[in-house]
Amino acid sequence: FENSSKASLAVASEMASLIRKKEAEGKPCVLGLATGNTPKLVYIELVRLHREEGLSFRNVYSFNLDEYYPIAPDSPQSYVRFMKEMLFDHVDIPEDHYFIPDGRLPMDRIPAFCKEYEQKIEELGGLDIQLLGIGSNGHIGFNEPGSLVDSKTRLIALNHTTRAGAASDFGGLSATPKKGITLGVKAIMSARRVILMAWGESKADVIKLAVEGPVTERIPASYLQAHPNTTFVIDEASAQQLT
Ligand code: F6R
Repeated sequence: FENSSKASLAVASEMASLIRKKEAEGKPCVLGLATGNTPKLVYIELVRLHREEGLSFRNVYSFNLDEYYPIAPDSPQSYVRFMKEMLFDHVDIPEDHYFIPDGRLPMDRIPAFCKEYEQKIEELGGLDIQLLGIGSNGHIGFNEPGSLVDSKTRLIALNHTTRAGAASDFGGLSATPKKGITLGVKAIMSARRVILMAWGESKADVIKLAVEGPVTERIPASYLQAHPNTTFVIDEASAQQLT
């Protein structure tokens, strides 16, 4: 796409069509959602579609990709807060329909929580659409380089690049969480549809590696080359290294 605005409208429109189709079929629509800068315009458009064009989220279930650990859900940097402010507080999604990894859990309860998180997705019939951004190191969710293609939902140590990128939100690197809880690569790869978005020149190198480079655990987004229904929705600036 020429720019991120046009691209985001197209992504929101595809999501809205699916939400409406599932509603008409009387089935739940199960979304995998991302945070960060990349999906913001998609959420703004989904809120507009709800307010102005009657798009209802009563039939939607959503599972966020990741959360910092440890973090309180009401802290300014938490992804719970981000999702409420960007989307959930402005649409009619029931409060018990959205799920975000819990950054407050005691460490010994995380494995069971992660297992249940994946089970809930499966009980609802699996992810209909997984929305992704991409880290400049190739991460998807918090699946940092080195994450295996069959990795599970889990607690993971964040890379220096990831923490450095988040440091300004936390008021410095030392205050930035060292860990995160992330949906595993296997669950992402199980989604029926994956849309990875990237905007701007700073993502151009990693987009080239993910799309044209070898499939490797060094660039977890490259695993998507083997996914049967993935689209990379990118702007011209992030596409400039592609041959
Ligand atoms: C966020 C997430 C991350 C981001 C990635 C890009 O839920 O899963 O993988 O998508 O770090 O972040 P932005 O969009 O801020 O460039």
